[in-house]
Amino acid sequence: MPGEPLLVAESLARGFGEGEARLELFSGLSLTLGVGDAVAIVGPSGCGKSTLLHLLAGLDRPDAGRVAVDGRDWETLAPEPKAKWRGESVGFVFQLHHLLPELTAEENVALPLFLAGVGDSAARASARELLARVGLVRQAGSLPRVLSGGERQRVAIARAVVRRPRLLLCDEPTGSLDAAHAADVLELLLGTARERAGALLLVTHDPGVAARCGTVLTLSPGGLAAS
Ligand SMILES: Nc1ncnc2c1ncn2[C@@H]1O[C@H](COP(=O)(O)OP(=O)(O)O)[C@@H](O)[C@H]1O
Ligand SMILES: [Mg+2]
Repeated sequence: MPGEPLLVAESLARGFGEGEARLELFSGLSLTLGVGDAVAIVGPSGCGKSTLLHLLAGLDRPDAGRVAVDGRDWETLAPEPKAKWRGESVGFVFQLHHLLPELTAEENVALPLFLAGVGDSAARASARELLARVGLVRQAGSLPRVLSGGERQRVAIARAVVRRPRLLLCDEPTGSLDAAHAADVLELLLGTARERAGALLLVTHDPGVAARCGTVLTLSPGGLAAS
């Protein structure tokens, strides 16, 4: 819908388990991201930050509330169009990276392009360009198992931006990186969002990374509040 913000989350609630073992993470959580927004979410381990990012990306379903990306509500989409829309509109960096173990670094980064129908050599060229951007030229042909944690994280970041999505959702994207690499990938994420007239939302425990985002929000059972 024209004029609709890039991301709208309204009155989200999510918890896990039944009866006495029930864990309510948050309820009444609302969030809007518009063009140019860069937001950091902070909060203690286990408060539901990863769960929230999965809901925003349509990878999990809320117990209540709705999420729309660029005017399209995840709940209204059938599985195939939903996956297609996610691939087009959202770049996601998983906390645990989730690289495919049998693919090289280059193939992991190129995968979203392969899935979008981009030809092999063009997809690999884009992947190599991004790997160079994150300092991993030499590792392009390496399998994830021989890469360090920080190298895997940078491959995951390159994969998230390779289709130049407008919405970037990143779960502790600098958690395995030293300060210099953290600053560099943050520039890549902010730059991608800027260039695409998009938005960046990241979860972090690093006050320096949070400070680079325009807004810092703390997640608590009542939702998100300015820090
Ligand atoms: N699929 C699930 N089933 C049951 N419990 C879950 C599930 N996903 C997350 N949790 C629980 O929800 C809580 C919040 O998890 P998470 O969102 O990963 O927190 P954070 O990212 O803030 O550390 C944790 O206690 C976790 O064990
Ligand atoms: Mg987490």
